[in-house]
Amino acid sequence: MSPALTIRPYSEGALTQAAAKLRAGELVAFPTETVYGLGADATNDDAVAGIFSAKQRPSFNPLISHFPDRDAAAKHAVFDARADKLAAAFWPGALTLVLPKRDDSTVSQLTTAGLPSIAVRVPAHDMARALLRAVGRPIAAPSANRSGRISPTTAAHVAASLGNAIGMILDGGPCGVGLESTVIDLTTDQVVMLRPGGITGDQVAEILGTDVVMAETDDTAPKSPGMMTSHYAPGLPVRLNATAPDTEKYGHEILLAFGPDCVTKGFDKVLWLSKTGNDREAAANLFAKLHEADQPRFDGIAIAPIPDTGLGLAINDRMKRASAPRAPVQSNP
Ligand code: TXA
Ligand code: MG
Repeated sequence: MSPALTIRPYSEGALTQAAAKLRAGELVAFPTETVYGLGADATNDDAVAGIFSAKQRPSFNPLISHFPDRDAAAKHAVFDARADKLAAAFWPGALTLVLPKRDDSTVSQLTTAGLPSIAVRVPAHDMARALLRAVGRPIAAPSANRSGRISPTTAAHVAASLGNAIGMILDGGPCGVGLESTVIDLTTDQVVMLRPGGITGDQVAEILGTDVVMAETDDTAPKSPGMMTSHYAPGLPVRLNATAPDTEKYGHEILLAFGPDCVTKGFDKVLWLSKTGNDREAAANLFAKLHEADQPRFDGIAIAPIPDTGLGLAINDRMKRASAPRAPVQSNP
């Protein structure tokens, strides 16, 4: 599917059109002060799967949810005193906070990659905030470029990279910062910088009066998948490429099934990722089904074979991580 691309400079009409598209589950690229974001309704599984599909991303990293102000973000994330101080000092601005996700948050598990935390940001860009207000829902938005390409700071960059994969770009001229936001993890007692960006560790340390610890690795380059403490791994063992049950060897398994030829007979229970073998539907279902399957009454989770094409690559990458030998839990990534 390659819808005709519309590039519109800011106007009331453009904003209304972009907001309607986002609410309908479509993708819209929009400017922020850092880089152009590829936006989708963060509460809509299928829309978020569309981001990964358009970017041709080979793995599912958790995405930042964007809000027009702190109070909108606080409907989905738990703010402690540190978070409030940083929000007061740097929002709107190039700072993303990773906070505990609220139990009543409606943000998709694909947005947060199944994690109990959520990354939230209020961009310092009038057009972006007007759009976020008009949509009235959290917007997931990674940089609007194909995976592995440089981040876009003009509408023309976005069009060159993603033009045939998205329907609309809101054109706000060149981005001022040109570098992605700083990501600070506040889910532990430490203050951990997960990604350096426009706002420095010293600036953050000065506001909080505490040290800022640098994360050793960015989660795009994990030392080893089993060591990725920041990624949700189910409690049950996970078996990949399961084509048949084998209770003697694996006990009573719940199957995550995929595709019309999938063998489901003999498994204790079956949850469908996609009956028709649709990679985007499977991606949208992935984390929710993984959570649902993770019940102690089963001995393990069996995953049906999923072809390594399209979003299948990212699904299989995530499943490999979920099935990797578990490292002891560390306090920080
Ligand atoms: O400047 C920016 O932040 C741009 C503009 C468009 O706002 N957005 C952006 O989004 O770069 P994204 O989704 O690509 O950023 C993802 C970063 C990754 O480093 C990811 O690991 C981290 O945020 N992240 C997101 N959710 C997380 C979570 N729950 N725990 C840890 N890290 C998280
Ligand atoms: Mg990027």
